[in-house]
Amino acid sequence: MTFVTGLQCRRCNARYPISLTHRCSACGAPLEPHYDWDGIAASVDRDSLHTRERNIWRYTEFLPLEHAPTVSGDVGWTPLVEAPKLAKTIGVRKLWLKCDGYSYPSLSFKDRVVAVSINKAIELGITTVGCPSTGNLANAVAAHASAAGLDSWIFVPDDIEVGKTIGTAVYNPHMVRVKGNYDQINKLTAEASERFGWGIVNINLRPYYAEGSKTMAFEMTEQLGWRVPDAVVSPMAGGSLASKLKQGFDQFRRLGWIDNCPRIYGAQATGCSPIVTAALTEREVIPVKPKTIARSIAIGNPVDGNQAAEAIRASGGTAASVSDEELVEGIKLLATLTGVFTETAGGVTVAAAARLAEQGHLGRDDEVVLCLTGNGMKTIEAVEKEILVSTAIEPYLSNIEPLI
Ligand SMILES: Cc1ncc(COP(=O)(O)O)c(C=O)c1O
Ligand SMILES: [Zn+2]
Repeated sequence: MTFVTGLQCRRCNARYPISLTHRCSACGAPLEPHYDWDGIAASVDRDSLHTRERNIWRYTEFLPLEHAPTVSGDVGWTPLVEAPKLAKTIGVRKLWLKCDGYSYPSLSFKDRVVAVSINKAIELGITTVGCPSTGNLANAVAAHASAAGLDSWIFVPDDIEVGKTIGTAVYNPHMVRVKGNYDQINKLTAEASERFGWGIVNINLRPYYAEGSKTMAFEMTEQLGWRVPDAVVSPMAGGSLASKLKQGFDQFRRLGWIDNCPRIYGAQATGCSPIVTAALTEREVIPVKPKTIARSIAIGNPVDGNQAAEAIRASGGTAASVSDEELVEGIKLLATLTGVFTETAGGVTVAAAARLAEQGHLGRDDEVVLCLTGNGMKTIEAVEKEILVSTAIEPYLSNIEPLI
């Protein structure tokens, strides 16, 4: 059953049919799906959800497909893990990790957004998809396109981590490594897609793509037994995830399924923190030139940056940035206290949560969820010099004794 009724301009509310468009022709603002909320309220109730399969499609009424998904069926429902030792260290009452680093199939939350956008591409009759990416999206588009039998064109900076490069190339897409930063590559991909008629998941398919991020809010709410945390901390790159988390909670609240939306906190690396600056100064995003090892979230000119800053402020949250050294400490702290190995964006999230607690934004009575959006095995470079690896021994028991 589908409830999407078309696309709507975020600024002037102009309506458009479902198609390969992403900007309002009247005012230039981004478009997003519009739903029949009365229809959704009449057709689904909260307590019937538990009988559905544990993937993002259990929230199908809140997603912009017009038919049942034909590919990427098994995405979502990643673990939500309680982390009491980390809660104590940071200084909050309870803390959970939303572990999208274990997402199927490509080990980051980008599986959610790609699952939605690739199904929409198929509905629109598109056979070639693609993306500009800082790495995780490249992995996801290449993986999902391979499984779906679609052609894919993936544009990435030539100096991203080996795990991200090989983790894309292994699927044998058309992979274009570009000598430039993400913002330059984004522009190049937009030009190429216009010339060659491709569906680019995070450009002309963006209204559909972005909706996938809401499922992270839906899942954590359901996994907590329909109890909403006080605060959610999210890493930010283009700003889509942070703003869609708020929208997801607001949509459940609109139906009366939950009472309130958590405070949303945004995290970035200090070397690329245009959305944090916008949120703290209450001004529009001013683009920056990224300089950080948190490559996956190094977007200097974030498309949804203003929307993210606005969502954060409206939720009663705020934003924080952390240095590269702090993010590495965040990765190590998380690993040693929880057993979860997250990538650089997760290190930023953990370190930012600690900073926000120090500043009093996260309090001793707060229940907090950290969005850990990617897997540490993909960004080994960030920590390899920091981790002590013991020298090898000959295989004799006598060599163990000195170690004890
Ligand atoms: C691991 C990880 N976390 C978070 C983000 C931020 O996503 P958004 O662009 O929706 O802000 C990204 C984006 O690339 C990412 O790769
Ligand atoms: Zn408009």
